[in-house]
Amino acid sequence: MDGRDLVRSVKLVGAVGAAQAVRTVRAAWRRRRTDAAGLPRPAAERARMPGTIEEVEPGPGGGVIRFGRSELRILVAVNGAAFWAWDGAAAEPSYALAGRCPEPDPRASLEPDKEGGWRVVAERVTVAVSRHGAVEIRTPGGVTLRRDLPPRWWEPADGGPGRWMVRSEVAPEARFFGLGGRAGGPRLRDGTYRLWNTDPGHAFSPGDDPLYITMPVQMVVADAGTHLLFHDNSWDGTVTLREGEEGAGSGHDRAGTSELRMQGGPLRCWVMVGTPARVLLAWASLTGAPALPPRWALGHQHARWGFGSEGEVRRIVAGYRERGLPLDAVHLDIDHYDAHQVFTVDRERFPALPRLAEELRRDGIRLVSIVDPAVRAAPGNAVYDGGTDLDAFVRDASGRLVEGVVWPGDAVFPDFTHARVRKWWGGLYAERLAQGFAGFWHDMNEPTSFTAFGESTLPRSARHCLEGRGGDHREAHNVYGLSMARAAYEGLRELSPRERPFLFSRSGWAGMQRYGGTWSGDVATGWPGLRASLSLVLGLGLCGVPYSGPDIGGFDGSPSPELFLRWFQLGAYLPLFRTHASRDAGRREPWEFGAEVLEHARVALVERRRLLPYFVTLAHLARRTGAPYVRPLWWGAPEDRALRECEDAFLLGDCLLVAPVLAPGADRRAVRLPRGRWYDTATGQAYEGPGQVLVEAPLSRIPVLARAGAVIPVRGDDGGPELEVWAPAPGRAGGGLVVADAGDGWEEPEIEHYVTRWDGSRVVVGLQGPDGPREPSLPVRVRGLAGR
Ligand code: NOJ
Repeated sequence: MDGRDLVRSVKLVGAVGAAQAVRTVRAAWRRRRTDAAGLPRPAAERARMPGTIEEVEPGPGGGVIRFGRSELRILVAVNGAAFWAWDGAAAEPSYALAGRCPEPDPRASLEPDKEGGWRVVAERVTVAVSRHGAVEIRTPGGVTLRRDLPPRWWEPADGGPGRWMVRSEVAPEARFFGLGGRAGGPRLRDGTYRLWNTDPGHAFSPGDDPLYITMPVQMVVADAGTHLLFHDNSWDGTVTLREGEEGAGSGHDRAGTSELRMQGGPLRCWVMVGTPARVLLAWASLTGAPALPPRWALGHQHARWGFGSEGEVRRIVAGYRERGLPLDAVHLDIDHYDAHQVFTVDRERFPALPRLAEELRRDGIRLVSIVDPAVRAAPGNAVYDGGTDLDAFVRDASGRLVEGVVWPGDAVFPDFTHARVRKWWGGLYAERLAQGFAGFWHDMNEPTSFTAFGESTLPRSARHCLEGRGGDHREAHNVYGLSMARAAYEGLRELSPRERPFLFSRSGWAGMQRYGGTWSGDVATGWPGLRASLSLVLGLGLCGVPYSGPDIGGFDGSPSPELFLRWFQLGAYLPLFRTHASRDAGRREPWEFGAEVLEHARVALVERRRLLPYFVTLAHLARRTGAPYVRPLWWGAPEDRALRECEDAFLLGDCLLVAPVLAPGADRRAVRLPRGRWYDTATGQAYEGPGQVLVEAPLSRIPVLARAGAVIPVRGDDGGPELEVWAPAPGRAGGGLVVADAGDGWEEPEIEHYVTRWDGSRVVVGLQGPDGPREPSLPVRVRGLAGR
């Protein structure tokens, strides 16, 4: 126990009370003892590299290349993604893949490359392997996007899994993104990023890393192309990134580097090459389509740790209603549980939850429940008893139950890597549905177990089923939240087959989008936290998780009225638009910050509701194409280096560019524009990109620009759908996609494709059909005509 641990213990006593603090000390010792007994002892290691090529064997989609001390399997799949793996590793089993490994592309061929190397040539990518085992990813035009030097392994001399390392080089001007949710991004600066899902234990700022969701997923954007690289390995590891440098004509460029070190597990990876849109399409086809949220989950949601009673929930809802503020969901945190036990209700403070839920639903407001994985270890607690009968909880290497400490005190943890346990857990949501809850908020599932010192999670030696293969927490940790989400999603599909499950989860891993979204976790109240909020949403979107958003106003403390408002204004354009805060934090209702903030927050709320049909469209497009709602400015122009550097604005779908205010005291801000004409949606003023412009950003709004020619589905004044059309640039045409859906359920709506063009001095809008464009059936409002 060092000084930092001591500070942590003192803080814990303040936060959780003395009895709980004592438990965390006991739990920390227990964890240490468990690992001392259960982990393999450090042994002498033997280093290994592949050696040189001895033999090649062509196979479907590529083939196998045998080296003196390893072998490399390469397969290009029909979706254009390339897979390679060392030492005989296969693509399955995998927690990331949505189903089976995609079929090999029969057109991909293995052929000799220069200097004794070999390459697999496919339509969208070439994977070239040198004689010593360096792996190069080339574009179809032959430009190298990435070069992995031959890997190195260190293996215990007495057998067992070894560590390994791969160092890669990318173009000097390339930029790194991704690796899950990183507060200091979205562009990942030089540094070491850990791959181990972590509850930081305090409200975090941009300097805190890692956080709740880490993923070995890198999106690398360079002049010659974009690639997404995924190492399918859930073990603990680090990625050390160093951006390259161009020698300003001296010819001495320095490559960008990425060094991945893993503590175990297979060396196998997938790469996708092309435009950002193409890359994410392939990623979604590999790891699964993002779950479609019900429409209400695209509206405004209000949460708080410590609503405390039904009366308080009614008071908040009435506050929204009386002020005419749209509200779509209220979230109940752990304080509505009976003694913090999951799947229970405190009947004193919430005596008639189903009735409350029913009343709210009549007003169009849904109730969302927090769900924590830790189960209070107490006979008589029905979930504990049920799980015990099923042998559902994680055990240590000697077969004893692993006990940790979370909100309910001493607790045990379901092993979600067991199909039977998932099935049981999924069934428990019946109780939540009976209480009237319509959505689920998974928390503490890194998993977190409070400890006074050491890591606040399960012992690394804790045993997991891992779908029957068996293994320990070193491998299962990062997929714990993902597997919990799977349990809930599959359970809800059965319990409520006609409704789209709505769940979002604090922790997760590659593929989590199949089951739902996520949120920032405990982002610190302050301007840096506001910036981190955007970074997380952008970074996760590039890892295939399109639905997320922050705790608006920050999790802890009290934001200034200005900070709250700016956060609220940003949140109104993010998929998850939710105010939330800790029990000790100041209030977050929009009317708690004075009349001026209330009026401006109202504008943001009303605008969000107006844009709801656009959000629904973006949700469908995310599901069908993997494209996130919130995209970096370089999305459509990754070759534009200035856009690659821009981190303070984003594209919302194809049509809008949102430039939030991220610093105090601003009444205007610089906005970098991608190519083309953009209209300030508030003033109608037209700007020409590429370039940087100064745009008004009074306290009443943040700059939102519309792309010339855009067609945006909105809610008209009468509540019905309408098309907002922005005049194309002179001589140009435009268009947009619209997906109208029923709000819930599984009916597949059509994608409508609208086109816009000038006809003399008129802008005409047509709906594309088999016989050419026809009149749209929706009312059309053309804007941007003054900018002509
Ligand atoms: C931690 C979560 O991040 C936070 O959102 C929640 O309010 C608390 N746990 C209490 O459940």
